[in-house]
Amino acid sequence: MTPEEFRKFGHQMIDWIADYRATVDDLPVMSTIQPGDVRKSLPSKPPESAESFDAILADLNEKILPGITHWNHPNYFAYFPSNATLASVLGDLMSSGLGGIGLNWQSMPALTELEELTTDWLRQMVGLSTAWEGVIQDTASTSTLVALLCAREQSSNYSQMNTGFQGQQSPFIVYSSIQSHSSVKKAALLAGFGLDHLRFIETDEHFALNIKCLEDAIQKDISAGFTPCAIIATTGTTTTTAIDPIADIAHLAKTHDMWLHVDAAMAGSAMILPECRWMWDGIEGADSLVLNPHKWLGVIFDCSLFYTRKSEHLVRVMSTNPSYLQTSADGEAKNYRDWGIPLGRRFRALKLWCLIREQGVSGLQARIRRDMDNAQWLYQQIEATPEWDILAPVSLQTICVRHIPAGLEAAELDVHTLNWVHEINSSGAAYLTPAKLNGQWMVRISIGAETTTLEHVQALWDTMQNVVTSH
Ligand SMILES: Cc1ncc(COP(=O)(O)O)c(C=O)c1O
Repeated sequence: MTPEEFRKFGHQMIDWIADYRATVDDLPVMSTIQPGDVRKSLPSKPPESAESFDAILADLNEKILPGITHWNHPNYFAYFPSNATLASVLGDLMSSGLGGIGLNWQSMPALTELEELTTDWLRQMVGLSTAWEGVIQDTASTSTLVALLCAREQSSNYSQMNTGFQGQQSPFIVYSSIQSHSSVKKAALLAGFGLDHLRFIETDEHFALNIKCLEDAIQKDISAGFTPCAIIATTGTTTTTAIDPIADIAHLAKTHDMWLHVDAAMAGSAMILPECRWMWDGIEGADSLVLNPHKWLGVIFDCSLFYTRKSEHLVRVMSTNPSYLQTSADGEAKNYRDWGIPLGRRFRALKLWCLIREQGVSGLQARIRRDMDNAQWLYQQIEATPEWDILAPVSLQTICVRHIPAGLEAAELDVHTLNWVHEINSSGAAYLTPAKLNGQWMVRISIGAETTTLEHVQALWDTMQNVVTSH
């Protein structure tokens, strides 16, 4: 494709995206196709000769679009929001158009420097001290893995340079709550701690980590000759947005010389509101944290910010320095390849930069506040309505709910819950996520898509009440 052809089809594609966003409300939120449908509709062999871009666009409309679940639909209330604001889409396009990768500062100087700048902007926006330095990773899963690799090397006195931590006499233990995200367990397993050395700590009545249980577990492990190594605390758990007591956890981590990583993948966006910062009170006592602007804040996926107060240690754990990557700028400029796992990095800072500049801090704050207000409105309606139960505090924008008709046994209640949520999802009217809490199914309503207004939340509440009465 020549630049002139790109201009022509690029304009068409931008028009296509603008039309899609302008009319997405008319589409069913959740794709209703069956597994295999998209694949079956497309040729199984690659085209022998070149095809026109028009043909590709036609297939996008006819064959791909039906297989899309619309995360940027105003009636999207599933999982957590993944807002792809159009300003950040343009930032992503800038990165694609430039088409380079960062290997070291010299290979794309602006990539490094804009990443330094934007991660520092966000640090200021969420109220962290200057002790923190940030880097953009792909996902929170990767960020948490990086944190656990740092923890492992801290506790083993940098054993990767000799026996690895297989040479340790006393096994290392990792702690998190039973409500922590599955990526925590995955990261601990991949970092080699072993399932036997993970402790999933009980939570309190609000689903936050129970500090007394954590303290007891640490003492028990020390008595058994184990080495407490890391704690992963969560600000805003996935199921209920519960808030672990960071200050108390940080105190324990310091006492026992452990690495504290805070998973604020979702709730981190809300820290741009001063009134929300109580949620991670004590954060300055952590060693690292992750927050995902690719969730609620509005940067198109992927953009996960990993911050640490121990960047020298991080670099020591992650650095590589083969001759072919060395340049005369080494020592003067940051080399982000030493701040994470991959060597090559995309120019992700552009999409974060575009979002922050196009919205301004006050614009972003207003949207997050709107979503929290909308969640409170729905919470109040549900709370005041017989047969409906709110199951967890609504600290942010997620509401956990059950409809409980009189006289249903636990198993029947599960069937009822899964039925009504399935009916809403498959109707295309809205998209919600069923999940288990204390062993029983419930429904999560996660408010925060960029285009969701109070009217959409009101319509959802009407739909929920209509669906359960039709059962
Ligand atoms: C609290 C929390 N941590 C981690 C993750 C994993 O995020 P990612 O997809 O960026 O790995 C999620 C995903 O929703 C989450 O809610």
